[in-house]
Amino acid sequence: MASYNLLVNGKRQSVESWDPAQPLLYLLRNELKLHGAKFGCGLGQCGSCTVLIDDSPARACQVTVSAAVGRRITTIEGLGSPEKPHLVQAAFIAEQAAQCGYCTNGMVMSAVALLRGTPRPSIDQSKAALDGNLCRCGSHDRVLRAVQRAAGTPVEKS
Ligand code: FES
Repeated sequence: MASYNLLVNGKRQSVESWDPAQPLLYLLRNELKLHGAKFGCGLGQCGSCTVLIDDSPARACQVTVSAAVGRRITTIEGLGSPEKPHLVQAAFIAEQAAQCGYCTNGMVMSAVALLRGTPRPSIDQSKAALDGNLCRCGSHDRVLRAVQRAAGTPVEKS
């Protein structure tokens, strides 16, 4: 067992792992009890485990614990709260941009990263930024509306 110091949601956290290649996702969920990042495919293909690492979206199932040391990790728990949701979370709620909700947290994290770098994205830029976040319920239209709402450029419902 080795100990790894992680900076998660602004707090220094120490986690133990038997394997430096263990995915960050497992440690977030199982050791730190941060269940916002979801296990979907485990292969970097669905986006449900998306977190921010140094403000860029990253697939937590593909980041090793050793690679996460010294980086700033933000999970959805570090964004807002039910009482005071982040702007993007509030926009997802307003647009009801979820069905089963399993993919939603990853979508929100990708949208937050997009808006930090591109505060007024076009629809095409939003589509490109969320291209790797899959939704099996087909909520993509509502998700795009939520992103545009959060950007202050709401689109009409079709
Ligand atoms: Fe990480 Fe699917 S669980 S991308």
